[in-house]
Amino acid sequence: MKILVTRRLFPETIERLRGLAEVDYRDLDENLPAAELAQRVVGCAGLMAGLTDRIDAALLAGADGLKVVSNVAVGYNNIDVAACTAAGVMVTNTPGVLNETTADMAWTLLMASARRVVAADAWTRAGNWQGWKFQDPWMGQDVHGATLGILGMGRIGQAVARRAQGFDMRVIYHSRTRPDATSHIPGRAQWVAKERLFSEADFIVLLVPYTPQTHHAVAAPELALMKPTAHLINIARGGVVDDVALIEALRERRIAGAGMDVFEGEPALNPGFRTLDNVTLTPHIGSSTRATRLAMANCAADNLCVALTGQAPPNLINPDVILERVS
Ligand code: NAP
Ligand code: GLV
Repeated sequence: MKILVTRRLFPETIERLRGLAEVDYRDLDENLPAAELAQRVVGCAGLMAGLTDRIDAALLAGADGLKVVSNVAVGYNNIDVAACTAAGVMVTNTPGVLNETTADMAWTLLMASARRVVAADAWTRAGNWQGWKFQDPWMGQDVHGATLGILGMGRIGQAVARRAQGFDMRVIYHSRTRPDATSHIPGRAQWVAKERLFSEADFIVLLVPYTPQTHHAVAAPELALMKPTAHLINIARGGVVDDVALIEALRERRIAGAGMDVFEGEPALNPGFRTLDNVTLTPHIGSSTRATRLAMANCAADNLCVALTGQAPPNLINPDVILERVS
């Protein structure tokens, strides 16, 4: 039995997999070209994939014995799940273990944007500071007491909402499913229609998965609803925001700022972002602490190992695969 691991993980994860099967380990932390992925997956029963590996029908057509794709990420928009189900391939992800770390990063971007930390740092380093000023050019937005809006109140959205209680914030959110009396929503958060979320919130944090329904969920109409003092934080996925429309809104100061961890077409960066001093940019590092990346690798290895025994793994995204096998 063979497993393909498409990019560098932790040595202990690989050792564990080697106890189970032959491992084709690509000990490189760079994207694997699609053609090489298609070639190396042949003859594999398990695939440990990263969020940059595209798993689609064309790849599956050449991967006859493949039983499981274990994504080392919670988001799985890189995988055509329907094609995997049709091919009898289980798909798993790593939910839960990265909630708190990603929520911390959402708050890091929110605070940095509100108080213009990155631009102020660059300005100070450049030797521009001539003395303390009462009405300095760096007056930002208060976070405490403000209204936080969350689009996508799932696992990470709820972790973001919990943190808002310490800042005495009002929390409103919009998710696909309206809560009922039995739903537990942290921080006394209130479900509102999407338009209300965008017009009332002072800070909007995006935490929806990237799907055909969430493509450009934030585009010109949503940006037009936002207050001129409001900030937008995209820690979800590139493509959830129409980056071109956002750049225009930031350039024209129609909104106050943005914090961006993910981008359309990443790692390419729309050059429009580079010229703006009201956007804070980070390179898709929401889950990036050593402890959390290790937890993600372990979670993905657990999923893979269980799936290869023929059982349903803990984080199975397409249970239909098992049902079809039973029926
Ligand atoms: P989750 O628990 O599945 O939560 C997603 C939420 O989005 C759910 O509340 C869901 O509503 C809502 N949603 C889905 N489609 C929607 C739509 N069309 N309109 C409105 N709401 C919609 O996922 P999670 O674990 O919190 O992760 C969320 C996303 O964050 C991931 O998919 C990933 O892309 C991103 N992420 C990014 C990083 C990073 O490094 N930047 C790190 C981790 C995760 P329902 O409850 O109705 O389904
Ligand atoms: C990171 O972006 C993830 O989806 O885990």
